[in-house]
Amino acid sequence: MTAHSIERNLAYTPQVAAATRELYAKVSNVVPEIEWPAFAPLIAEINRLKKERGAVILAHNYQTPEIFHCVADFVGDSLQLAREAAKTDAKIIVQAGVHFMAETSKILSPEKTVLIPDLEAGCSLAASITGADVRLLKQKYPNLPVVTYVNTSAEVKAESDITCTSSNAVAVVESIAKERGVDTVIFIPDKFLAQNVANQTKIKIIAWHGRCEVHERFTADDIRRFKADHPGAIVLAHPECPAEVVAECDFAGSTSAMTDYVVKNRPARVVMLTECSMADNIQAQVRDVEFLRPCNLCPHMKRITLDKILRSLQTMQFEVKVDPAVATRAKAAVERMLAVGKPKPAVH
Ligand code: 13P
Ligand code: SF4
Repeated sequence: MTAHSIERNLAYTPQVAAATRELYAKVSNVVPEIEWPAFAPLIAEINRLKKERGAVILAHNYQTPEIFHCVADFVGDSLQLAREAAKTDAKIIVQAGVHFMAETSKILSPEKTVLIPDLEAGCSLAASITGADVRLLKQKYPNLPVVTYVNTSAEVKAESDITCTSSNAVAVVESIAKERGVDTVIFIPDKFLAQNVANQTKIKIIAWHGRCEVHERFTADDIRRFKADHPGAIVLAHPECPAEVVAECDFAGSTSAMTDYVVKNRPARVVMLTECSMADNIQAQVRDVEFLRPCNLCPHMKRITLDKILRSLQTMQFEVKVDPAVATRAKAAVERMLAVGKPKPAVH
């Protein structure tokens, strides 16, 4: 494909303005009008090309509003995106998220082409542990099941008994402990999620030392100061935050559980101790809630842009591949998880 054909149709013409008017209405309170002429031609071309290719875009809740609300076919937390990857009929999945999410899609749908718009979109948790580390843990604790957070490589999942996400971690830990008749499980790699799960169950947990570079930065002092400055404001936190942060917040849950909390309860003022795009994406839908800062940016999630999504569809890069022998073992661990969690629709 020539550079010329890749760049075609990218002007903000009256036709593009008309074709994207309804989409702009969805994000007009979070995307300044002055930015729309830069986004709209990319959005129009992505939406045209994904139909032509028979592709779907799966976008995580941390994607920016112009991706989340304007080009995604399915949005959600890690569990919802995994469920969607397992059931979609599309031949091509473009993962607007980080690499482990694209790998999970490939593991569940090996016959599909799974693309990630930027191969460098990693995750500090996934980078904290290797398959060899898990093998050593299994040697040290031979009779204990390994529960692995999905924020890991396929190689690590392949060494595991079952995976989990932030929305089903407690249920998964309890289910595998019951199935194996044990009172202790190995839970990798997020040390804070492990503590937060341990606080909600009687099952003992042996944890790894991984941490999310976005959520580890929130402190309980932040919450106390924030609550003193903004009386009545509701504080939501992701369970990748340290346990003392989760202890001080009003509600902790997966990215989609936090969204549901705001949509259902409509607190007047809320702070979300998580990635910044969460507040923007909810604000676009729920205009009567005031979102206060702080929040932190995930540098990996922010590598995914409209430009890169379009290029990915045009060039069919970057294809995510998983060694079939690794994928078969990883799939067993992911499918065991999918059988435990409760189904939740992720349709946008
Ligand atoms: P969720 O599964 O809650 O969406 O979390 C994914 C993630 O990477 C949070 O940092
Ligand atoms: Fe990984 Fe944290 Fe980014 Fe989520 S927010 S993708 S856990 S680094």
